[in-house]
Amino acid sequence: MRDTRKYLRFPLSYRIEHWLLVATFTTLAITGLVQKFAASGASQVILRLLGGVETTRVIHHTAAAILMLEVVYHVGALGFRVFVRRTHLTMLPSSSDVRMAVQALLYNLGFSKVRPQQDRFSFEEKAEYWAVVWGTLVMAITGFMMWNPIATTRFLPGEFVPAAKSAHGAEAVLAVLAIIVWHIYHVHVRQFNKSMFTGDLTENEMIEEHPLELADIKAGVAERPVEPLALSRRKRIFYPVYGVLAAAMLFGIYAFVTLEQTAVTTRPPAEDVVIFSPLTPTPFPTALPSATPLPIIGVAWADGIGALFQSKCIVCHGSPSGLGGLNLASYAGIQTGGASGPVVVPGDPEASLLVVKQAAGNHPGQLSGEELALVRQWIEAGAPEK
Ligand code: HEC
Repeated sequence: MRDTRKYLRFPLSYRIEHWLLVATFTTLAITGLVQKFAASGASQVILRLLGGVETTRVIHHTAAAILMLEVVYHVGALGFRVFVRRTHLTMLPSSSDVRMAVQALLYNLGFSKVRPQQDRFSFEEKAEYWAVVWGTLVMAITGFMMWNPIATTRFLPGEFVPAAKSAHGAEAVLAVLAIIVWHIYHVHVRQFNKSMFTGDLTENEMIEEHPLELADIKAGVAERPVEPLALSRRKRIFYPVYGVLAAAMLFGIYAFVTLEQTAVTTRPPAEDVVIFSPLTPTPFPTALPSATPLPIIGVAWADGIGALFQSKCIVCHGSPSGLGGLNLASYAGIQTGGASGPVVVPGDPEASLLVVKQAAGNHPGQLSGEELALVRQWIEAGAPEK
């Protein structure tokens, strides 16, 4: 038999609400989890695609605000159904849900041949609905505490802010897992329930999933009859009450998003700076403490002049590759001279670069006045080796 009879399950307004929830939830989950697990490679890629962590936060906050507005609407729509239309409270958990859950468990384990006969909302659906209510409440409260830490710590100790952050992140993981495991399993895997897209269920699906509701529909007692007079009287009371409530909630949301910036502004990355910069550059290698000058016996290289240079100069001028190209370690070296040419002009001390350098008084390995006088005498005498 073709299954043509359809039963309206979700009117368009319900479906729009559901899509709003899908969009905000997904956005919040993605933009939130990449912040929670920011170190992971996948998060880095997504954060970059979204334009950085600051933009990601703006998206997260915007989605949160839209979800809160949806809550204001939902409270209104629900209030209307409960107080004005006086519909059956089909989403309210009851003791029979516990029985249904046990029955379902026994059936799934093979201990029972019959599946539980469920009403308009199965215990699985009720569990999920109330999980969303609870989750949204936790996320809103902890989100508020992170977004408005100063306002929060006016009433609560400071530890509550990092605690809120942990709870927010953990509840997020729980919510995402619940959707992946519970929701996807029950409405997409076990059987694909299309009513959230099409709005209705077929008779067979009703028999399978909601036999008790179907029985009520057939008996004509699924919906309570409404008397037009009573309806308009209740509306006159409901609208102003909800108006005040909605205004209060909207004001709350406004305060939520504008009170403070956020606890977790990202600092710009630190700039590169030189961490060690000596005050004055050291142009020369520092001379080792010099040995006590040897007593000078006579004015010849071999008589002490050579030893004088040895003790004062060879730290820097100790080989042919010495500083300034000068080697003062040997008589041959001093004859060769340095990078600027000869350093000693025999017979003419004042023309000798060596004297010029040392007489200037600022060259390392500084010769004393006496030592310099001896060097002058030695050059005057023709700078003899012996
Ligand atoms: C701490 C290292 C240091 C010590 C010690 C030192 N010098 Fe020098 N000397 C240099 C450097 C570096 C240069 C090359 C730059 C310049 O010309 O000032 C130089 C260059 C010279 C030059 C010029 C060489 C050329 O051809 O340009 C002379 C001459 C000289 N030194 C003499 C001496 C004498 C004599 C002593 C010992 C009494 C001495 N220096 C000790 C570092 C040193």
